[in-house]
Amino acid sequence: MIFDTHVHYDDEAYDEDREVFLGEIVQKGVGRVINVGATIDSAKEAVALSQKYDFIYAAVGVHPSDTADLTEEDMQWLTQAAQMEKVVAIGEIGLDYHYDEPEKEVQKKWFVRQLRIAKETKLPVCIHSREAAQDTLTIMQQEHAEEIGGVIHCYSYGWEMAKIYLDMGFYLGIGGVVTFKNGRKLKEVVEKAPMEQLVLETDSPYLSPEPYRGQRNSSDRLLYVANQIAELKNMTTDEVIRITEENAKRLYRMKK
Ligand code: NI
Repeated sequence: MIFDTHVHYDDEAYDEDREVFLGEIVQKGVGRVINVGATIDSAKEAVALSQKYDFIYAAVGVHPSDTADLTEEDMQWLTQAAQMEKVVAIGEIGLDYHYDEPEKEVQKKWFVRQLRIAKETKLPVCIHSREAAQDTLTIMQQEHAEEIGGVIHCYSYGWEMAKIYLDMGFYLGIGGVVTFKNGRKLKEVVEKAPMEQLVLETDSPYLSPEPYRGQRNSSDRLLYVANQIAELKNMTTDEVIRITEENAKRLYRMKK
């Protein structure tokens, strides 16, 4: 069954039809999804969704672009939440230099702090890194992230950087971008990476694959992503779905 390792179904894009929408994706062959937090509020909503729906699990963490007003109290809540049932990861956390704010030093501080919560609570991490390749790697090496483990979500760098993360034992999250015409760099990474370290992710509502590019995304559309990976890896789509599901369960330390 399809395992979507990264969704934001708490997003307002689903406010009008969430209940119906979530019912439908289960009908369409989606086995499990991880709803990932981006702010403290959305992390709370992720936990609530995981309590309401069997197939939804939660990750709690604060996205680098939302770190400006974080407090130590928020970190205490995160530490508590990490120990709740069905919370399987700390994320999404990392660095995003696409916009100028918050300042790099602020982003770095909270990235390190949240990596340490992951280490303390023994949960894997979901890493968001955009236009910040070197600083992300430096912090992860300094913090010995190889002892924490996790996934580089929406992997967007080249093969050389991918190789370093794969050697640290990290997984790469592959989504809609691999189906885009300008997705050649990611296709090369998928070709070269071991199948055992790839997981599927939509980042719903974002990054809908071709032929639905630009529309609100949905976990069942990972079929198109799996199709593309199958082509690159010379295997069947069913095999891609099965292997990435096993990988995701290993990554999030879930029972079968
Ligand atoms: Ni995300």
